[in-house]
Amino acid sequence: MPAYGVIGAQWGDEGKGKVVDYLAERADMVVRFSGGNNAGHTVINAKGEFKLHLVPSGVFWPQSMSLIGPGVVLDPGLLLHEIEELEAQGVDTSRLFISDRAHVVMPYHVQLDQLEERARGSAAIGTTGRGIGPTYMDKVARVGIRVSDLLEEGYLAKRLDVVAKQKNALLTKVYGAEPIDTGKLYAQMLEYGIRLRRYVVSTETIIGEALAKDARVVLEGAQGALLDVDHGTYPYVTSSSSTIGGACTGLGIAPWQIKSIVGVYKAYSTRVGAGPMTTELNDEVAHTIRERAWEYGTTTGRPRRVGWFDGVAARYSAMINGYTSAVLTRLDVLDGLPSIKVCVAYKLDGKRVNQFPSNPDAMERCKPILEEMPGWTRPTAGATKIKQLPAEALNYVRKLESLIGAPIDLISTGPRREESIAVRPIIRPRRPAKSD
Ligand code: IMP
Repeated sequence: MPAYGVIGAQWGDEGKGKVVDYLAERADMVVRFSGGNNAGHTVINAKGEFKLHLVPSGVFWPQSMSLIGPGVVLDPGLLLHEIEELEAQGVDTSRLFISDRAHVVMPYHVQLDQLEERARGSAAIGTTGRGIGPTYMDKVARVGIRVSDLLEEGYLAKRLDVVAKQKNALLTKVYGAEPIDTGKLYAQMLEYGIRLRRYVVSTETIIGEALAKDARVVLEGAQGALLDVDHGTYPYVTSSSSTIGGACTGLGIAPWQIKSIVGVYKAYSTRVGAGPMTTELNDEVAHTIRERAWEYGTTTGRPRRVGWFDGVAARYSAMINGYTSAVLTRLDVLDGLPSIKVCVAYKLDGKRVNQFPSNPDAMERCKPILEEMPGWTRPTAGATKIKQLPAEALNYVRKLESLIGAPIDLISTGPRREESIAVRPIIRPRRPAKSD
């Protein structure tokens, strides 16, 4: 003990990168447990602005180790590139380690992701095209390639032989694409193995030993709870478990070792890709928010869909994750709006409902029941104390807190670390060691 989970509470892009970087100051270790380079975490600090896709957002703190756990799917070329870029910008990556059990995103996964999306036509999910779905499919189908396989020449050759037969049938017969050049792929993967070897460890052992010594471990979520493969807006979801349960399975830790579960909510809603979004706006307000907050995907550059805060989705997210704290980000983006709406329930087929429906067609039929609240003219941007917030902004925060059902312990008022209001500490400062 103790681990602290940080979960995207909506559809991803809530600003987890900043929150994890902020919390990592008091952490010994930051670990990623799910997803892959479909994630894009932005961190701005004294060294510059960074867009991380695989490397945990704690990498900027010298006291904190960064681990990529077994539940993550890892594109080796992209990881090596990200490491090189960080090093070139003066960031020390010598305390970064990756799990020998993590699955590898192979070039054919990326190719299949794109071919499958094209074949779905109007039913496309709007994936990031990074091969995430096909890699998780292969993991579950037990034909995946793992990081440890890249370090075992003989095993890799045997494994690729089996997998290539299957993939080639799919590529050539279903999609009419070129078959895999197995020899070339083998050589490329061996080369990645050589370059990655120094990072490869048993992360379970490192995390287990750290927790046994009472180290502080931040569990960095990716995507958001509403994109979780079990609990999200299926089939418009990612292929991994982005809720807190995914931290236990994706790292090999026990639920009781998690002291706090932090849900990161944006002060409004955004979503990239297809799928229901009940509070979506297609008007001037959405445009203003999108441009002001630069709501464009970190990974794909796609414009994000924008909507009001969805209290039904927020409460559902809190229920399936058991948040002990909430973090509210991007409050400043709403500065100057004359009024702000909040969805407090849905109307479905003429009835008021408070439950988040499971069926996408039913979700599409839901209409938001909105409450209008006055906006504020005095800016919240850059505020560092709760008393600096205008009364209307504070009212809005309280409203969201009651809809979420967990205390908002941190409010982010800008992209920089220091643009934060610590309402209550999520990770307490360390007590100074007692002297004799
Ligand atoms: P995939 O994870 O690339 O398979 O994409 C599945 C869905 O999840 C698509 O709607 C993506 O836009 C969405 N998605 C995946 N990763 C992220 C993320 O980090 N932020 C926001 N949306 C994401």
